Amino acid sequence: MEGTAFAGYLFPTRLGQAWNAGMLVLMLSVQSSLTMAYVDTDKVRWTSPEQAIQSEFSAGFTTESRVAALAVMVESAKLRRELLTDRNTSTLAPSFACPPAVSGLEDSGRHDIEVHHYLRHKIWADNFDFCRGSFGLWTEGAGVESPLRAATIATAVGLKPGQLVLDVGSGCGNYAQWYYEWFGARTIGLDYTEEAVKFAQESVAGAAPAQFCWMDISRYLGDWLPSRSIDLAVSFGVFYYLRVDVGRFEAGPEPMPGEGFANATRTPCDRLAATHLTQCRVAREMFRVVRELGYVWIGHLGSYKGKWDPKRVWGKNYWPCCFREELLRQEVSLREVPESKLFASHIDWDPTYSLILKRLS
Ligand SMILES: C[S@@+](CC[C@H](N)C(=O)[O-])C[C@H]1O[C@@H](n2cnc3c(N)ncnc32)[C@H](O)[C@@H]1O
Repeated sequence: MEGTAFAGYLFPTRLGQAWNAGMLVLMLSVQSSLTMAYVDTDKVRWTSPEQAIQSEFSAGFTTESRVAALAVMVESAKLRRELLTDRNTSTLAPSFACPPAVSGLEDSGRHDIEVHHYLRHKIWADNFDFCRGSFGLWTEGAGVESPLRAATIATAVGLKPGQLVLDVGSGCGNYAQWYYEWFGARTIGLDYTEEAVKFAQESVAGAAPAQFCWMDISRYLGDWLPSRSIDLAVSFGVFYYLRVDVGRFEAGPEPMPGEGFANATRTPCDRLAATHLTQCRVAREMFRVVRELGYVWIGHLGSYKGKWDPKRVWGKNYWPCCFREELLRQEVSLREVPESKLFASHIDWDPTYSLILKRLS
């Protein structure tokens, strides 16, 4: 208003009044655009965390932002580890009686696809020395995404110092190392790639309370692990190597090439739990060994455009059917959680999901 009065003083005529009016309009519009700008800023400031995360997602995560997220998670995990550790916290390495190592994958009765996967991992570990060069036995190394996933899982379930983790398909033992360094937890890892188990035993088990067994998890994850003895059973990037159903591995024409008509028929829902060598079977063994209020976390299901996803290969109720009895008895809570947000994965990594079970009783 001062400016208008100043102009009126300079131009106390009709022309001056018109000038004053023009100035007023101009000032009001400047003021209103400033107000609008202010409101916009305000909006940004008041964006809900969920919206802010969404816009980050649409912008796409970068390696730097993943590293930043990991660094924050690790620092708070380490602090929590310190705060929760007391003289009763166990740091003893697990000492289960691993089943006798026969070979990585017994040849008899195995499908070509299983042998193929087994040899591939063997070559990665033996010939290419993946354990030394990357985060686990991943084709090109999983980079920061691997520790980010491990940390997210442990944070989500509230892993505590001294607790016991079962890592099914533990590869080079990275999770065991991180779960001890960051969360103070102890781990038993199982894997059928001998070189990877050797590496884990030599490089990780010396520095962290961890034990590694060389074994085929589809065949030997059985009674040698006592029921209800584990706090968190985790398996990441492993289940897609296992059969979905009796002789069925992947989505495709029916019957699948090489499968024969016998397998064109799927095991019915109520008999899925009794199948052998299958994803369902291994998931059930993992659930068996988890204590009350403990968790099973099976990740990276549905990757590779769902090619190996039981929900696509067998049917969308694969997991509820696999745990049908436990669900009916209300012993388990079962969640299928999309991974794209959870782990800030690369967008082109297909809509993978995690199966998360909690033992209720
Ligand atoms: C992609 S790597 C993931 C390793 C580790 N979980 C990680 O996230 O870094 C898959 C692992 O599963 C193991 N694996 C696949 N099928 C298996 C089986 N039937 N028995 C034991 N290990 C198996 C491989 O040897 C390999 O270490």
